[in-house]
Amino acid sequence: VQRSGHVSVVIVGGTGDLAKKYLWQGFFQLYINQVSSGNTFSFYAGGLSPADKATPIFFEILKTVSCTNNVSQERCALLKEQFLRLSQYRQLKSLEEYQDLAKHIEKQLQEEGMKEAGRLFYLSVPAFAYADIADKINNSCRPTAGAWLRVVLEKPFGHDLRSAQVLASQLGNSLKEEEMYRIDHYLGKQVVAQIFPFRIENKKFLDPIWNKHHIERVEIVLKETLDVKGRIAFYDQYGVIRDVIQNHLTEVMALLTMRLPKNLSSSEEVLQNKMQIFSSLLPLGKNQAVVGQYQAYKSEVQQELNKTNDHISLTPTFAAVLAHVDEAQYEGVPVLLISGKMLDERVGYARILFKNDIFCLENHNAVHCKPKQIVFYFGHGTLKYPAILVSKNLFKPVLMNSEWKEVTEHADVSVLGLPISDYYVQTPVEQREAYTELISHIFAGRRNSFISTENLLASWDIWTPLLTGLAGTYPRIYPGGTDNGDLLDVCLKGKDISYNSEVVIISSDQMGG
Ligand code: BG6
Repeated sequence: VQRSGHVSVVIVGGTGDLAKKYLWQGFFQLYINQVSSGNTFSFYAGGLSPADKATPIFFEILKTVSCTNNVSQERCALLKEQFLRLSQYRQLKSLEEYQDLAKHIEKQLQEEGMKEAGRLFYLSVPAFAYADIADKINNSCRPTAGAWLRVVLEKPFGHDLRSAQVLASQLGNSLKEEEMYRIDHYLGKQVVAQIFPFRIENKKFLDPIWNKHHIERVEIVLKETLDVKGRIAFYDQYGVIRDVIQNHLTEVMALLTMRLPKNLSSSEEVLQNKMQIFSSLLPLGKNQAVVGQYQAYKSEVQQELNKTNDHISLTPTFAAVLAHVDEAQYEGVPVLLISGKMLDERVGYARILFKNDIFCLENHNAVHCKPKQIVFYFGHGTLKYPAILVSKNLFKPVLMNSEWKEVTEHADVSVLGLPISDYYVQTPVEQREAYTELISHIFAGRRNSFISTENLLASWDIWTPLLTGLAGTYPRIYPGGTDNGDLLDVCLKGKDISYNSEVVIISSDQMGG
């Protein structure tokens, strides 16, 4: 094996929830994939607690990592043992502790006689700590010449345009743009990552119909059944628009509507095309949104935030927003972004609904018909696995790559009320966790899967006016659980929605609170 370089991975907040649930598993998978690449690794969990207290906790977490099915039990045990041997917990609070870490890494390089490949810092800590940690990394932990530095950041990236600008400029004092990897875990979901390849592979069929003449509407939906108990201190300041719509759903919308890049691996081109869509979204006013709050939220807030019985929170736990892309291609096409907590089902999808007038074209003796709908299933809900579904009698989906196959064995599940036999389904054989996927992209330096500063600010620029407009609006109260009241009827089935007008989805007297 050729020896290439040493990589140091530091998860700051390395014993926290996210690290426990996803990150160490993702880095273990990276280690497995790289073990024979010639790179060597060391892994550090950083935290505020002293090492003697946190080390046993950290190793308990590491013991839970697992291998994929294609690794034998014996080999897995060996890899785990090696992974544990390469890992340690370090208290990372003061600048001196960051300096000590740097010294430790340098000593390690000398002992191994390796050159350095890079240092990866994953900040799994609240955003208010970012600037300070980035400063310490910049002052004491930059890698040796020629090696890379990548600093991974988790949302929330600000609260609105102004706060995002402040955070971006603070980070900009310590890190270069190409050193920042802002995570949106939706970009690591397999189906989301397949939107471009699907659009490209089916270009011939999709180009003639991917426009206002044929698209009835676009829906990007994330319905959740859970409440936000236990997270209210965070959630009550953010609400559903900031929590999932400004980021996850907006990114999916961009991938569906933006011009396809000629070169998929060019981050500049992908970014420019995305910026084009963001800048052509018509301004969002409060009349284009319905906001709701599940009934029990009020008392959850009172309890968790120690408020009195008359305290009312206006934070929405549900929102449906109607957007329009002001480009000739999509003129008048409604784009609905919908998400809520405590709804009747857990399901996430983006769907392109086509107008009813199905027509077929004959080409080289084959008949190609226009689809009724194309659904990109994110991978929870009725279909437990991620999938792309295309209505029957349409072009047959092209296999994306060898990992994708047509699925017929799930003939009894129904999707959006239609039997699955009406669809061609494609689903990946092996499901990968979004975080594991993104960790491999960070390692490969694939910046397209992350949110650049320009991307972030453009997205806040879209959502901030709506958030400002909605401030003070009473959310419509919905029962929660299996009963949404008529919220979703109103938003999804289009009862009160006139897609062609300036849409006021609900009138103020229908609002609760
Ligand atoms: C997170 C939000 O970013 O995304 C959560 O903070 C939300 O509130 C989650 O539940 C949804 O992600 P997924 O992968 O479960 O659809």
